[in-house]
Amino acid sequence: MNRPTRVEITEVGPRDGLQAEPAFVPTATKIDLINNLIAAGVPRIEFSSFVSPRAVPQLVDVVDVFERLDRSTDTVLAALVPNAKGAVRAAECQVDEIIVFLSASESHNLKNVNRSVEESLSGFEHVAKIADHAGIPVNGAIATAFGCPFEGDVSVKQLEAIARRYQECGFSGVTLGDTTGMATPPIVQRAVRHLKEHVPELPIGLHFHNTRGIGLVNVIAGLDEGVDRYDSSFGGIGGCPFAPKATGNICTEDLIYLLHEMGIETGIDLEQLSAVACNVESVIGRDLPGQVMKAGPRLKLHSMADVATAVG
Ligand code: COA
Ligand code: ZN
Repeated sequence: MNRPTRVEITEVGPRDGLQAEPAFVPTATKIDLINNLIAAGVPRIEFSSFVSPRAVPQLVDVVDVFERLDRSTDTVLAALVPNAKGAVRAAECQVDEIIVFLSASESHNLKNVNRSVEESLSGFEHVAKIADHAGIPVNGAIATAFGCPFEGDVSVKQLEAIARRYQECGFSGVTLGDTTGMATPPIVQRAVRHLKEHVPELPIGLHFHNTRGIGLVNVIAGLDEGVDRYDSSFGGIGGCPFAPKATGNICTEDLIYLLHEMGIETGIDLEQLSAVACNVESVIGRDLPGQVMKAGPRLKLHSMADVATAVG
């Protein structure tokens, strides 16, 4: 068994979680939520995106948000960037990390960023230069890595080809994104094993959505392959606005609960994180899929007086 004893969680709620929300979440609310994540000990946060505000209006306030985040801890504040223009904006802000993204499949890349995979990749060569000049590390994400809602299966050869290009650009790692929840444990195992064998120097992160209810099962498959970096979102909110039937990320509190119960450290305070998730629920004004935020951890006991006795 190859399981890590500690994993690094990236909280993607402020970006993946909020990006599809139709009602604008006020900038001050976003700042509060993110600062509370930092206070809960989250080591890495995708706080927003430097994308076109016409494509994703919810994240138009990325600069204002970043300027008022608590920088006094080691939390890495990462932003999503699709092209050189986004990299210039991220470099101006001096974010801690840039995350570039494309989709493994041509059709979803076209829907999401209006260009071919090759066009995205050649743009990333410019991003790499801009980031290098600004001293900012870049991580490369691959959306639809475990299946595309328009094309079906994605080959591990395609993942390898993109990961090699990321490595040539000097990126610090690759994150495999399951945009519409098409991953299953054998698919995760195959993809991770293939990349570990063919692009061994590039650290792997996994980004699951719970669209088909097996997001955390896929995490177990990743842990069994030794993967120690996972993305998740508070309350399980999330989803790509440019993919059909996209639903929430795996839920951060549920993930932390599972990992801690397995003796795997995250450095995150579950109770504080659950409080942030409850806050998100009131901000959004609807029930979120997270379970532990509602039920509490297993040893949160109840008074017998609060429960009726079944008398016949
Ligand atoms: N940040 C802000 N504005 C940007 C931008 C960026 N990173 N990249 C392009 N733009 C602006 C251009 O300046 C131009 O503005 P103008 O018309 O006022 O001159 C306009 O967008 C069109 O530029 P172009 O390069 O032709 O972009 P496009 O229309 O082909 O759109 C993307 C490409 C990548 C900018 C757009 O598809 C996008 O932002 N996608 C992000 C989707 C996303 O975040 N999905 C969720 C993540 S999974
Ligand atoms: Zn996602």
